[in-house]
Amino acid sequence: MIARIEAEGGISFRDFMAMALYEPHHGYYTSEREKMGRDGDYLTSPEVSPLFGAMVGRQLREMWQLLGNPDPFTVVECGAGNGTLARDILSWAHRAAPELHGVTRYVIVELSEKLRSRQAARLQAEGLGERVTWDAPIPKGVTGCILSNELLDAMPVHRVSVEGGQLHVVFVTWDGSQFREELREPADAVVDYFERLGRPPGEGCKAEVNLAAVEWTRGAAEALAEGFVVTFDYGYEAEELYAPWRTDGTLLGFYGHNPTTNYYARIGRQDLTSHVDFTSVRRAGEQGGMRTLGLVSQAEFLTNLGIHEALEAEADLEERMARRRSVMELTDVGGLGRIKVLVQAKGMSSDGLIGLHQAELR
Ligand SMILES: C[S@@+](CC[C@H](N)C(=O)[O-])C[C@H]1O[C@@H](n2cnc3c(N)ncnc32)[C@H](O)[C@@H]1O
Repeated sequence: MIARIEAEGGISFRDFMAMALYEPHHGYYTSEREKMGRDGDYLTSPEVSPLFGAMVGRQLREMWQLLGNPDPFTVVECGAGNGTLARDILSWAHRAAPELHGVTRYVIVELSEKLRSRQAARLQAEGLGERVTWDAPIPKGVTGCILSNELLDAMPVHRVSVEGGQLHVVFVTWDGSQFREELREPADAVVDYFERLGRPPGEGCKAEVNLAAVEWTRGAAEALAEGFVVTFDYGYEAEELYAPWRTDGTLLGFYGHNPTTNYYARIGRQDLTSHVDFTSVRRAGEQGGMRTLGLVSQAEFLTNLGIHEALEAEADLEERMARRRSVMELTDVGGLGRIKVLVQAKGMSSDGLIGLHQAELR
């Protein structure tokens, strides 16, 4: 990395983050290190409990029915981590919705080769491998659902700052002993981004620009023939993300469950993540021909799908207590429950998805 920075006279923070996370062999996501889960650096919803996958499974079953029970029903999961959500959706369907399981074609799109092997080994070991294939990019003509959990917040971002009314972008340089940050002229794509939004960050504010998230959403919309895109991620609408009181942006490093704003520590061994601008992401989907059905919190989504009632089904007291703790964790509005769920659809007339609206029948 240092050689490249020296050769190029500095690289954008976006390029620095792309290398830190995805550089083959040395990047955070391409290395062996345990990332998601209690033994890793941060906790994601699938790693908390199989109940998360079961609730997503319920939502997928309704989507399948709304689409007229297509065979195959394709579920594309992008950025599948340890493969836990894939395992939990498929094993829920096997148990609770065998008619859906029988027609489901589960496709994983995963950037990291290490994680692809881990996912394959895990799904094979649990006897779920035959339903799953790996592909990249998202295959065209999907009838079904394109799903992701904390994919967009793991994409490399530009960092910008506004000083004296001018928008600048952060570049990373090397002074021979440490990394330095320099403010430079932003590329047109970054300027256009805020022009489209009609609001730059406030004076004196730092913020992130995730062009890759917008591009990914556009690609998902294009790949979808008919069905849904469901995006779980930390983030806000632009008005809140780029509010003048948010002076330092949202980018954080994570190592052993501890957050840090030292982005240059433990390069390749600590995660870097930032919140998603759901206004730009939503609009990218709409420009790609999708309709937005809703943007709700994970707490609302899982509650609407009946996660609290799922507790009652378990007879064993110890298991019930463990499940109760998991449900609290998944719906905690100070933690995972504040993750947003964006649901967009193409070619569908129905607005009434269970996850977005309280339903009487579950
Ligand atoms: C924060 S982790 C989330 C993993 C998993 N979804 C979970 O909830 O535990 C981000 C995942 O997205 C993958 N990833 C990042 N960018 C990607 C891209 N452009 N295409 C596919 N996978 C990507 C990473 O390798 C990793 O598996």
